[in-house]
Amino acid sequence: MENKNDTQPISEETVSVAEPTPETVSEEDFSQFDNEAEAAKEQAARDAQAEADKELPPDPNALLEVRHLKKYFTLKKTFLGKTLSELRAVDDVSFKLYPGETLGIVGESGCGKTTMGRTILKLHQPTGGQIFFNGQDITDYTTKQMHRPMIQPSLDNASIATLNRPLRTQMQIIFQDPYSSLPPRSPVGEIIAEAVKVHNIVPPDQVKDYVLSVMSQCGLLDYYYERYPHEFSGGQRQRICIARALAVKPSLVVCDEPVSALDVSIQAQIINLLKKLQEEMNLTYLFISHDLSVVKHISDRIGVMYLGSMVEFGSKESIFANPLHPYTQALFSAVPVPDPDAKMNRILLGGDIPSPANPPKGCKFHTRCPKAKEICKHIAPVYKEYEEGHFAACHLYPQD
Ligand SMILES: Nc1ncnc2c1ncn2[C@@H]1O[C@H](COP(=O)(O)OP(=O)(O)OP(=O)(O)O)[C@@H](O)[C@H]1O
Ligand code: SF4
Ligand SMILES: [Mg+2]
Repeated sequence: MENKNDTQPISEETVSVAEPTPETVSEEDFSQFDNEAEAAKEQAARDAQAEADKELPPDPNALLEVRHLKKYFTLKKTFLGKTLSELRAVDDVSFKLYPGETLGIVGESGCGKTTMGRTILKLHQPTGGQIFFNGQDITDYTTKQMHRPMIQPSLDNASIATLNRPLRTQMQIIFQDPYSSLPPRSPVGEIIAEAVKVHNIVPPDQVKDYVLSVMSQCGLLDYYYERYPHEFSGGQRQRICIARALAVKPSLVVCDEPVSALDVSIQAQIINLLKKLQEEMNLTYLFISHDLSVVKHISDRIGVMYLGSMVEFGSKESIFANPLHPYTQALFSAVPVPDPDAKMNRILLGGDIPSPANPPKGCKFHTRCPKAKEICKHIAPVYKEYEEGHFAACHLYPQD
């Protein structure tokens, strides 16, 4: 099969004609195929690639760089501590995130979005791979190191003030549920001030004024300072959570389904607030959501996850205009169109989502894919760049 130039845009025509190579792929070719051996071979190749990539310097322009990230949870151990079974929640995910941008992460429940976000923030220790933040390899940082200032001699004076603070302040998370993520017995002002004091964000005599200014930025009135979280609605509580996260002046914020627990009428207000704050504070967002309309509104680039793996990644425009992976095509076919006359060609996926503890061999999506071929059951597709910045892993496209 002809190998397309990777940098050339993929048109509808070039994509739709790409098929698995029929001359080499047929039912018979796989009748004697050893799936276990193939899986072991693929794993060895992935491990070798991860090892080779460790030699590469981090991208100096990326705020966050994730390489071959893995987070496996042990499900069963022997008496001596040997792992008998594990769940691959995040399995070999790589991407870069640049200052000021929003990367939307989408995928069905259980595909590993939250685990990936938490592992990047070092709330979980990664099983493998590398995490670079501002060019520094933080993969093996302990909780203690996350609370120490980052020493970066290369920084200019202006950057030192903001970037030589503990990493924990520079990377924050906003959770899905604003009800359970706020301590019920502390007033709002105290909740927001706590980390400000711990990390000496401003001198002690300026804490109250500073907290009030952050509250105001987040649309919270001054008199809320003395009030308790239970006195507020979901939307206001999420504003409090946002103020608490932003009060320590982070540069990266993981937003984990920040509006999915809120009424639809409030969701837009919170999304618009996040966008406004991003501009004012030059924030970089990793925005996790299963709501594609929200992701489309807020993201610059989008990553689509399935069973712990990134199956497609690209700019919002390229992914919405030309989704390559059948899973992305199915997900996006469910996004409502604001035109009442437009026909929805919704692609319904059959079958249950397989368990990440026992993912299907070959392409993990083959058990539900409407376009699956025989090869998909046996050989995992290569994750490749098909147009500039647009990656996908699917046998429908050239693999070499
Ligand atoms: N601490 C843990 N121990 C064992 N398994 C876990 C743990 N945390 C998550 N998992 C499993 O890892 C997989 C990924 O979970 P995760 O919460 O990251 O998914 P998600 O994409 O965020 O889902 P949702 O959209 O429902 O929030 C799931 O199968 C989940 O059961
Ligand atoms: S099963 Fe996987 S590799 Fe095969 S067509 Fe579907 S998405 Fe592509
Ligand atoms: Mg989640």
